[in-house]
Amino acid sequence: MAISSSILFCYLLFSLISNVASSFMYSDDRRDVLFPQILKEEAVTRLDELGKVSDANGYLQRTFMSPASVRAGNLIRQWMEDAGLRTWVDHLGNVHGRVEGLNASAQALLIGSHLDTVVDAGIFDGSLGIITAISALKVLKSTGKLGKLKRPVEVIAFSDEEGVRFQSTFLGSAALAGILPVSALRVSDKSGVTVLDALRENSIDIAEESLLQLKYDPASVWGYIEVHIEQGPVLEWVGFPLGVVQGIAGQTRLKVTLRGSQGHAGTVPMSMRQDPMTAAAELIVLLERLCKHPKDFLSYDGRSNGSTLESLSSSLVCTVGEISSWPSASNVIPGEVTFTVDLRAIDDAGRETVLYELSNQLYQICEKRSVSCIVERKHDANAVMCDADLSSQLKSASYAALKRMTGATQHEIPVIMSGAGHDAMAMSHLTKVGMLFVRCRGGISHSPAEHVLDDDVWAAGLAVLAFLETHV
Ligand code: GLV
Ligand code: MN
Ligand code: MN
Repeated sequence: MAISSSILFCYLLFSLISNVASSFMYSDDRRDVLFPQILKEEAVTRLDELGKVSDANGYLQRTFMSPASVRAGNLIRQWMEDAGLRTWVDHLGNVHGRVEGLNASAQALLIGSHLDTVVDAGIFDGSLGIITAISALKVLKSTGKLGKLKRPVEVIAFSDEEGVRFQSTFLGSAALAGILPVSALRVSDKSGVTVLDALRENSIDIAEESLLQLKYDPASVWGYIEVHIEQGPVLEWVGFPLGVVQGIAGQTRLKVTLRGSQGHAGTVPMSMRQDPMTAAAELIVLLERLCKHPKDFLSYDGRSNGSTLESLSSSLVCTVGEISSWPSASNVIPGEVTFTVDLRAIDDAGRETVLYELSNQLYQICEKRSVSCIVERKHDANAVMCDADLSSQLKSASYAALKRMTGATQHEIPVIMSGAGHDAMAMSHLTKVGMLFVRCRGGISHSPAEHVLDDDVWAAGLAVLAFLETHV
């Protein structure tokens, strides 16, 4: 789960703060530089409104190109237009809003995050980055500076970061970065609907050949920044609303299918069963042991050296978040069990070593239990380091924002590693990337309990504004 991964992944590279107030009092004479109506009140209202756009009754769920995703995209598009941006939806369902500024042929600054959600999601994951960017640009419009930007600025609400529907995350951002293989368009969801079908159902007719046309020319792009909730507890621990991201852990998603002998729960003796459910149980516990104690499984050989093992010990996390069985009845020994594995680590070579060890042991267990076993690699993303210059600009923007809010000079902005995946990972294949994290309550995310203080939404909007002002 996101909290524990962030706990494990977060390296604090900052000297501790002494005078950071956790609440922001501001005097009336600073209202004219704080824009509370747009950056706080309206932004929070929009986050709440977007958080109600769901495919499910009673909880938040928006998956790639679902009806709620399309409705959310329309809402975001209206807000982009309200901020003075020219908008369009591309052939992978990404929603764009762009202002050309003074020089339409200068390299563009891209700012984005995702509009899809997990199942039973919180309202900030993804949406916060989209709304803070739109709000900051709306402030520039209201102060007459939008047309004075030195370069084009484009906000992108990506159609798929969570990968819930098709398992292959970053469909939208990977297409723009030019790293989405054509085969991704033919992947099916659980009902057999492919990515292509899902797009066509929404009147987006993308021919496989035109996928390449979605790729941005790297020479036309200056850089990419993303604001996102931290999804971990570090900023709350240290009492800071904002932090700069140093890098993002790499991740692999697997789908494991085990097939055994379906039979009667009352008649087949225990010694004669080929039960894929008990095999799955053994495999899941093995996975937990391996990821908790990688040093007990991996040796200092050609595959793993000392620093790999050290880094795995502090950053490796594995999760089985989805499991299903067929035919799924209490009096039937299942014939088939399928489960997912989500495995992340900061060290890419280390992640490969763990996958190698896992697959060795997995096949041995399947053989011992006489069940067949298929492992499919559904998604891979290598770890990404954020650009040092962009990070330092985001730091300065955060200082400026917090100084505007509190009147006090802050000592140090925390620098954090991200255990969660972000569109910035895909965009790093196109351009330099930088990310800003925003404190969230209890570090909780991927849960309806996800919460960001209104003042922290405001701080994030002010930081994006301060960043944009350096491009005016
Ligand atoms: C996205 O939130 C992920 O890290 O899975
Ligand atoms: Mn998420
Ligand atoms: Mn996210």
